[in-house]
Amino acid sequence: MLKYPEGVLFMKDSIDDIKAILALRPKIAVLTGAGISAESGVPTFRGSDGYWKGKSAEDLASMQGFSQDPHGVWEWYNLRRQKLKDIKPNPGHDALVRLEELASSFTLVTQNVDRLHQQAGSGQVLELHGSIWPVRCMDCDYQEDRFQVDLPAEPRCPDCKGWLRPGVVWFGEALPFGIMEKADHAVRMADLFFIIGTSAVVWPAAGLAWTAREAGAKVVEINLEETPATEVAHISLLGKSGEILPQLL
Ligand code: OAD
Repeated sequence: MLKYPEGVLFMKDSIDDIKAILALRPKIAVLTGAGISAESGVPTFRGSDGYWKGKSAEDLASMQGFSQDPHGVWEWYNLRRQKLKDIKPNPGHDALVRLEELASSFTLVTQNVDRLHQQAGSGQVLELHGSIWPVRCMDCDYQEDRFQVDLPAEPRCPDCKGWLRPGVVWFGEALPFGIMEKADHAVRMADLFFIIGTSAVVWPAAGLAWTAREAGAKVVEINLEETPATEVAHISLLGKSGEILPQLL
């Protein structure tokens, strides 16, 4: 498997190819994952920093994990919320804002729950996995954005005293209603599809790369290493998204 930095191959030609397509004001769809926020200091899920107290993302971000250890799961989310509070978008997020201006239509689909795309200035963002900032009650309809980071270890609903949970989609749960259809539609219409900073192992998000390829888009992957989606990428750029994306503009 190729890995950055040894694997940076033919990057100059590839970037020129992409620039030539961008000059035609293409329709663009983008899928991002945790890697685009890594240079801002947000830990990825499956990197060496992805484990917490010996537990994986799957252990923590699931109803089963929460049922077994709600305090532990909230401790992990509170840690992530605290980290995010002081974190800023990086040149990769900024470049996507500018990319939007070059496109005749642009859809940004993210698996990230950090809202850094919105903070950078991206308009419509399809948050496939929700966001870490809303909390919602597990027993009633109560829901609100809570930006304070020092939530109690046992956050409870102000209305019914049920457990509050983060507004993210956990493993095994359905995605927000209708969101995958919107993402799928945008990808099918796209001339150019970017898949950036995702290990491409979590479905249905990862499947958008295969959809894009089947539907005829030029597929560009930006990642530190090859992933399962590399097989459908026309161009695979190995490196940091915060360094590669600004070079396209
Ligand atoms: P992962 O942690 O699985 O993958 C991050 C990817 O980013 C890896 O492929 C890295 O090689 C790459 N990467 C790291 N730093 C990078 C950089 N500076 N530039 C470019 N690429 C870089 O994260 P996701 O694929 O986003 O779901 O994970 C998908 C889902 O699994 C998450 O949304 C979350 C998680 O469990 C839920 O919580 C439901």
